Amino acid sequence: MTLLSIEGLKCHYSTDTGVTKAVDGISFGMEKGEILGIVGESGSGKTTIALAIMGLLPGNATSSGTIRYGDTELSSLPEHKKDTFRWKDIALVFQNSLEVLNPVMTVGMQVCEPMVAHRGMSVREAEERCVALFRRVGLDPVWMDAYPHQLSGGMRQRVMIARAIAQNTEIILLDEPTSSLDLHHQMGVLEVLASVAKEKNISILMAIHDLNLAARYCDEIIVLQGGKVFGTGSPAALFTPDMVRDTYGIHAVVKHDLGAPYVVPLSVAGPDDGDGKSTAPHGGKPPPAGERTATG
Ligand SMILES: Nc1ncnc2c1ncn2[C@@H]1O[C@H](COP(=O)(O)OP(=O)(O)O)[C@@H](O)[C@H]1O
Ligand SMILES: [Mg+2]
Repeated sequence: MTLLSIEGLKCHYSTDTGVTKAVDGISFGMEKGEILGIVGESGSGKTTIALAIMGLLPGNATSSGTIRYGDTELSSLPEHKKDTFRWKDIALVFQNSLEVLNPVMTVGMQVCEPMVAHRGMSVREAEERCVALFRRVGLDPVWMDAYPHQLSGGMRQRVMIARAIAQNTEIILLDEPTSSLDLHHQMGVLEVLASVAKEKNISILMAIHDLNLAARYCDEIIVLQGGKVFGTGSPAALFTPDMVRDTYGIHAVVKHDLGAPYVVPLSVAGPDDGDGKSTAPHGGKPPPAGERTATG
């Protein structure tokens, strides 16, 4: 069953220097219970798609095309009607939990608050559910009384996931949910996310930078380039050395002997490789190390 369907979505930003066609005619569908990955270099439009689905594009954006959730065309709803769906049926987990979480409220309260506000639970009921949710995402419930800055980056992302599943939403959008973490912690968070999604039949749309993680955790992948769909399919069908080179500027071999395909970079392209755009992930530098560094 197609739960979310996007047809001909365009989102253009106006700035003093001109118009950026951040998303330029994209169509895709997402099935119930599917984990759909969006990969693509920085600036390819991943965040813009998530904001468009949530109806949270900034004021300088214009958009066209249709975004349909079940039988409802979200894109044509007036603002106050969007709130019927936003956060209740579709939730968004932002990239940087430290900016999004309230610094002066305990993380437990931040998971409970929407359950009380939107789901009509008593505080006591919400707290009981919060204990179970913390355990489900691999956090000891003693951390419910902590403030965001007392948690590591990986723990905060788990809090954000607990908050998203607390709402019983059908769809969770995640914008590079683990990009500030080291590989070990990224896998821990994605493992929890994927298993909760399968258990509760939640559909996940996840912008993700790391191709190997995308191949491991996503059922289907959309490759974006410059606001357009460059390719789409299962990781096994999609992952070829050409696709990796054209999307990320990395010369690589793709191996298929570990279940999910995985990319082994041969060399990293420089700023003047090919079309003059720097397409190496992390600007050609290794990914940031140590999730605790995210706490500053
Ligand atoms: N608020 C904005 N105003 C103007 N341009 C923007 C704005 N947000 C994003 N962009 C531009 O839109 C393009 C797509 O950005 P984004 O959706 O953030 O890509 P990604 O998430 O894949 O890195 C980029 O060129 C970016 O600079
Ligand atoms: Mg982004």
